[in-house]
Amino acid sequence: MTSWSRGEPGLSPFVLPRGARGRIAGRFMLWVNRQEEVLDLLDVPAGAEVLEVGYGPGGLIRLLKRTRARRICGVDPSAEMRDLASRPHSDEILAGRIDLRLGTAADTGFPDAVFDRVVSVNNVAIWPDLDSGVAELHRVTRPGGRLLIACHGGTRPSILTRSNALSADKVERIERALSGTFAEVSRRDLTSLTSFTAIR
Ligand SMILES: C[S@@+](CC[C@H](N)C(=O)[O-])C[C@H]1O[C@@H](n2cnc3c(N)ncnc32)[C@H](O)[C@@H]1O
Repeated sequence: MTSWSRGEPGLSPFVLPRGARGRIAGRFMLWVNRQEEVLDLLDVPAGAEVLEVGYGPGGLIRLLKRTRARRICGVDPSAEMRDLASRPHSDEILAGRIDLRLGTAADTGFPDAVFDRVVSVNNVAIWPDLDSGVAELHRVTRPGGRLLIACHGGTRPSILTRSNALSADKVERIERALSGTFAEVSRRDLTSLTSFTAIR
């Protein structure tokens, strides 16, 4: 898969986790990728419908489960990640509160304007096409709802992930794509993530 940010195929098991290597990468991401600050910034209201794009092994899904969100949905193209992320939540999946599907940023498969919060962590750089992803996430966000995109970077990037931090021109490119589509856009550096919040 060739990403918009690198222009070359990403062969790492972190880009599209598959098979045994993908499962090991998933366990590593669960350990390394802390998501508490993302949850705080997302500020999920009671009764909200939330979509996570590229949920990977499901670190943020575990945190979202503790909020008062009414429904927590997710899309990720990796069947291995869907299995790993789903495993701790069989009751809530059966009850319909958690719904983790195969899909991508550019093709979530959800209807128009259904989500109060849409969030993507550590995957915007690997989308094949930035504008198609942003357009799709705008489509599924409710008017007044919020898209939060976060990627490696921040004020104190982790030694394990700092080589994946986006360059200044890529950060600007993301801001431009969001500003061309959403009403309000802001950027904020978290501890080990750079975040973009866009309000529809
Ligand atoms: C580096 S992992 C990050 C996982 C998780 N969000 C985290 O921070 O721990 C990237 C994830 O994005 C998924 N992914 C790859 N291409 C994608 C796309 N086009 N749209 C959405 N997710 C994608 C991968 O399958 C993988 O699970």
